[in-house]
Amino acid sequence: MPMNALEPFKASAWDLPFTAADQRCAIEALEGGRVLYFEHLAFPVGDGERRMLSAASSDQKAKNISFDPGAGAVKGARTQGSGEARLLAMMSRYAGLTGTLLRGLLPHYTRALKQARTSFRPHEIEGRQPKSYRKDDRLLHADAFPSRPMRGARILRVFTNINPSGKPRVWHVGEPFDTFARRFLPDVRRAIPGVARLEAMFGITKGRRTEYDHVMLQLHDRAKRDARYQREAPRQEIAFPAGSTWVVFTDLVPHAAIKGQFALEQTFELPVAAQLRPELSPLRILERLAGRTLAV
Ligand code: SIN
Ligand code: FE
Repeated sequence: MPMNALEPFKASAWDLPFTAADQRCAIEALEGGRVLYFEHLAFPVGDGERRMLSAASSDQKAKNISFDPGAGAVKGARTQGSGEARLLAMMSRYAGLTGTLLRGLLPHYTRALKQARTSFRPHEIEGRQPKSYRKDDRLLHADAFPSRPMRGARILRVFTNINPSGKPRVWHVGEPFDTFARRFLPDVRRAIPGVARLEAMFGITKGRRTEYDHVMLQLHDRAKRDARYQREAPRQEIAFPAGSTWVVFTDLVPHAAIKGQFALEQTFELPVAAQLRPELSPLRILERLAGRTLAV
């Protein structure tokens, strides 16, 4: 059985100062593949927003809505309906609060941390069947984005369960990354030369995919496709209660979202060099296992 995946914190407000001991503990736990867990850190949902949540739940077609501050672009929003502006305001408030939290908790990262996409997740996870197994986040996986090469940089995410009727968001957290990677790495094929350049040229990927992105995507897909692995892999089930927040390197920690509805999520990107211990990054772990450089 894996060690307890959670590192608990008591904070109940987003802008409270953390002690040096808390900060040290947070960065070590995160980089070591644990999930920072704030049981009492809720996102204050306004009355108007609460009405939006129930409206979204009755609309089967409601999409995940995400906002990319870098591109200034909203994705997934329906064009009609005054509710979208409200949802956007809610997401930008969340972006602000999560930025404040991480600056206080992880000062070592502050200068290098880049705030990326914010998302609102209105769907009930359970019973929902995505078109492709690749998109099925109910299956254990480490995050890798097909169209957004990270080139070795880290994916750090903050989640908050904002379910209005108190339903938990249930996750499975899997084995350590190096065990996960060792299992699938022997089957990973080398990238076909030239393909990454063409995909970037035609805008299929945002920038060029490195060997690292190629390997991470294959690990992601192979893990999701492997029914036996999905059945038998060691994992810890965690029910994040409504009104709780958690922070995790989702590229390092195999995870699956099993059930729950209504969450906010904020993605941050961090260069490996900004880590306290870069050798614990998926990039360096994979390079050690593969015996070659991957992020070029
Ligand atoms: C995921 O990153 O796999 C989904 C997590 C969630 O929506 O809770
Ligand atoms: Fe994921």
